[in-house]
Amino acid sequence: MAEDLSIHTGTKEEQYQSLIPQIKGLLEGEPDLVANLANTVAALKEQFGWLWVGFYLVKQGELVLAPFQGPVACTRISKGRGVCGTSWAQAQTLIVPDVEKFPGHITCSSHSRSEIVVPVIRNGEVIGVLDVDSVETDQFDETDQRYLEEIVDFISF
Ligand code: SME
Repeated sequence: MAEDLSIHTGTKEEQYQSLIPQIKGLLEGEPDLVANLANTVAALKEQFGWLWVGFYLVKQGELVLAPFQGPVACTRISKGRGVCGTSWAQAQTLIVPDVEKFPGHITCSSHSRSEIVVPVIRNGEVIGVLDVDSVETDQFDETDQRYLEEIVDFISF
C-alpha cells in the first residue's frame, strides 16, 4: 500500500474531513500503539504544517513524551503543570490563543504562540494528551477541538 498522504487545501473543516479517513486507513489493522501515534502526528503535521504535534502519555504519574513531529520538546510534565498538565488535571480540551497569557505555560519551543491540548480519556481516566502548537497566535478553535477529539477517540490505546 502506498503511504502518501493526499493533502487537501480548503477550509479547515474540509482539511480535517479529507484527512480523517486517511488517518483511519493508516491505523486500520495495525495494533502497535507507537506506530499508530507516529503516523497520526505525521499526518496532522503534513496536512496543517503546525510547529509541533505530539502525544504525551501518562506513565507513573507523569506525562511522558511520546511520538511527535517538530522541534525537540520537554520530556516530562507533572499533573497540573503547563497547558498539558492542566488539560490532564481538568480532563478537558484547552485552547490557548496566546501562550504568553496562559499562567504556567511551559515553553518547549520559543516559536510557539498558540496551542490546543486534547486529553485522551479511557474508562474515565486521562491516559495521555495530544498537544498541538502553532507559530501564530489564535490558530485553534472549536473546529480543531471537535476533529482532534474525534481523532483521539478512534485511536486504540
Ligand atoms: N507548552 C506545553 C508543553 C509541551 S510543548 O509545547 C511540546 C505546556 O505548557 O504544557
